[in-house]
Parts: sequence; structure tokens; C-alpha cells
Amino acid sequence: MAANIQLKLDTQYIHDSRLGLHRLSAEQLNDVYPRVGGILAEIADERRAGRHRFRELPHERPGVEAVMQAVADYHDSTDNLLVLGIGGSALGNIALQSALNPYTYNLLPREDRRGPRLFVLDNVDPVYFEAVMDFVGRDWSRTLVNVISKSGETAETSAQFLIVRNRLVEALGKAEGEDRIVVTTDAAHGTMRKIVNEQKYRSLIVPDGVGGRFSVLTPVGLFSAAMCGIDVDALLSGAAAMDAAVSNPDPAINPAAKIAAIHYLYMELGKSLHVMMPYSQQLKDLADWYRQLWAESLGKIRPDNQENVGPTPIRALGATDQHSQVQLYREGPHDKVFTFLEVEEFDVDTIIPRGFPGVEAMEYLGRSEEGTLGGLLNIEKKATALALLASQRPSMTIRFPAVNERTVGEFIYLYESVIPIMGKLLGVNPYDQPAVELGKQLTFHFMGRQGYEKMPE
Ligand code: PA5
Repeated sequence: MAANIQLKLDTQYIHDSRLGLHRLSAEQLNDVYPRVGGILAEIADERRAGRHRFRELPHERPGVEAVMQAVADYHDSTDNLLVLGIGGSALGNIALQSALNPYTYNLLPREDRRGPRLFVLDNVDPVYFEAVMDFVGRDWSRTLVNVISKSGETAETSAQFLIVRNRLVEALGKAEGEDRIVVTTDAAHGTMRKIVNEQKYRSLIVPDGVGGRFSVLTPVGLFSAAMCGIDVDALLSGAAAMDAAVSNPDPAINPAAKIAAIHYLYMELGKSLHVMMPYSQQLKDLADWYRQLWAESLGKIRPDNQENVGPTPIRALGATDQHSQVQLYREGPHDKVFTFLEVEEFDVDTIIPRGFPGVEAMEYLGRSEEGTLGGLLNIEKKATALALLASQRPSMTIRFPAVNERTVGEFIYLYESVIPIMGKLLGVNPYDQPAVELGKQLTFHFMGRQGYEKMPE
């Protein structure tokens, strides 16, 4: 990737001759690059005309000041931050937290945490919900509720909000209870904005033209991140640096264009499943975030010929899923392309001690030059990539020198930028999600919402 980009894209195992018929040649890529180059030029023009709004976020930083003001106002008075949201209004928050704060963050004493505990409630399962209610309900006065809904119409989020608001008001009274609510929603539209205006709730704005799954670098994702001590400036500067790389008009150098071209060519060759497999527990939820971005943006009916298109994104985790999925990945159908996420330097690493002298099955672990947990994890990644190669399964690797705000910001912006290129290659609009609507409308119908009396089809 470009010189000032810290992530490295390694496509060696796309081109390796051991892949046989499953190899992509330089000629195949060169054949598709003129078309991708045209798409890059089109996107650049459209961007100048105000489209692809997510691309401007790291530069224009809409709402960042308001986020930091809200953090200044609430950080010290909050022990529990409760985020109510779903889909694009939750997955980014979860991904940032698990990538950039320790796994045990919520269990740590306050002095060892950079902010409040974070609970992102992205489901309406009552058992899950009430478990969190029981916990934060021990002291509502030190709980802050961030309701996130761009549309302001989402049944799951609205239901949670109704319950949580009642409990806050019951515990603290109307004025104090409602002071513990921050709503993140559209500036002008939707029921949630109407409620904010009427009830005078504190609010943050989801910028115009940025859809849920592209909104992690807006107040949607940044408020909970900043509350929990994550450096949002560094995140945004990682994204801004990646913008320079993915704005390169040459698809052979532009990493987003290259990733899109590889997936497109493989889809044409019948490989429509994409497995993203981080070898890093920290990056697991980022792969979940990617899964929504890819699925909701690209799984569509082509308007020109009614063809059903779209790669299926799959999230796996190394080394865990070596013991769960790799059998299928090596010997199952030849329908997958793999992307590994690898971390060169872990924040901490743990030496594996030597033990059980004479028991070779134990001893080699502590004797090896790679005898740390991080060393073992990276060797297992290398081993899996080679094992897949031996079964003629192509893979790419994205290397993180380290997992930090800068590299996570780069990654987010990189994969978001792949989407409009893929959208144009597949002939679909990546910014809508028409097929999600019917399920929502049927829910309204069965829940008796006025205006939905007739069963929608
Ligand atoms: O990416 C999307 O647009 C969706 O996943 C939405 O984020 C999700 O449906 C939640 O919508 P809202 O934020 O309007 O409540």
C-alpha cells in the first residue's frame, strides 16, 4: 500500500502457481483494471458532486466537536454507558471497543479503565436485555443511555428505549432521568428527532448521506469510543491517510481497487464466498462489522437484468476456527476466497515456558524461537494459509503492524472504500437495503402499528 499507510496488503497467495486453476494471473487482473480505473474516475467525479459522503468524514469530521463536548459533560459522572442500537448503529461501536480496549475492560475497576463500562445492546432478547438492566439498574444515576437510530424508526431500538427511559425516570425522576439520555439520530427526519425536539433530549447528529453501516466514523461510533478513552483523532487520521491511498487512480496501486478486482474476478470464477479470518481476538468484531457492510451493501438484485448478485461474507477467527471450519475450507467446495488479518506486534506477548522435559509434545513449544502466544498465533496463521494453498484455496493477508486507532481507522476506511467499487462492478446500488424493508413492515403489521393494517407483500 502507499508509503504512509501502515496496513500492508499481501496478495502473494492469489498468484501462486500452486493454486493451479484457482490462481489469478497478472494478465487477468490487467484485463479488469481498465474497467476498474474507469470506476475509480467515476467515483472521484461523483464524490466531487457530493456522493459517497462517507469518504469526507475523516476530513470534515462532522459532529466530532459535539461528541467531545458530550464526553466532557458526561465522562466523569458515568460508570455505565448503555448503547441502544442495531446493525450499523451498533456493530461499529462493538468493533471499536473490542479492538481498542482490553477484553476484560468492563470487569476492571474504574481506575484501570479509561471510561465507563460499555454495554451495546443490539438485540431485543429479553434475557440478555434484563441481565444488563439488572446490572446498570443498581445505580441509574451513574448510567448514561445513548440511543442510536439514524432513521429513528427501528422497532428494536424504539422498544429498548421505551423500557430504559421508564426505568431511568422511575429511578431518578423525570428531569434527572431524562438528563441521562443522549440520542444520536438524523438532524431533521424521523420519529427519534421529533422526540428529541419535543422532549429536549441531548442529541448528536448522524450526518446527511451517511448510511448506518458507513457511520462508525461519525457520532454513531465515535461517542461511545471517546467515552471509553479511544483516541478518535487517531482513528480519523488513519482513515484520512487511507483516503489518499484509495483515491489513487491507478487500480494496480489502489488497495481498495485491487481488493475489489480480485473478488470480482473470483466471483466470475464461482468463488462467491469471502471468509475474513483475523488471527487476533481484538479484530474479531471488526470482521463482524465488515460482514454487515459487505452483505447489506452488495447482496442485491441487479436492476438491469434482475440477476441476484453479491458475495457472501463469512467471519472466522484464527486460531479458534482452525478447530471448527478449516476442514471445510480445505476440502469443501472451491467457492471461497480468504482474507487473513495478521498482527505483527501484539500489545503484549506471553512467553511459553519450557516444561515437562523429555515430553516433546509439550517441550517444543517453550523451546521454539517463536515460543510466545503471539508467535504461536502467527505461525498458525502462516500454517493455515499454506495448508489452504496446498488445497488450491486462494488467500490474501492484511497485516497490521499493531492494532491501534491509526490502523483500525485505516482498515475501516479501506473496506468501506471497496464497497462502491464492488457496487459498480456488480451493477448494484451499495447504499440501499430494499430487502430489509419487508421484514420491518411485517413486524409493524404484526405488532399492530397504525398504517400497517394491510399485510405488506
Ligand atoms: O446499515 C444500515 O443502514 C442498517 O444496518 C441500519 O444501521 C440498521 O437497520 C439500524 O437502523 P437505524 O440506525 O435507522 O435504527
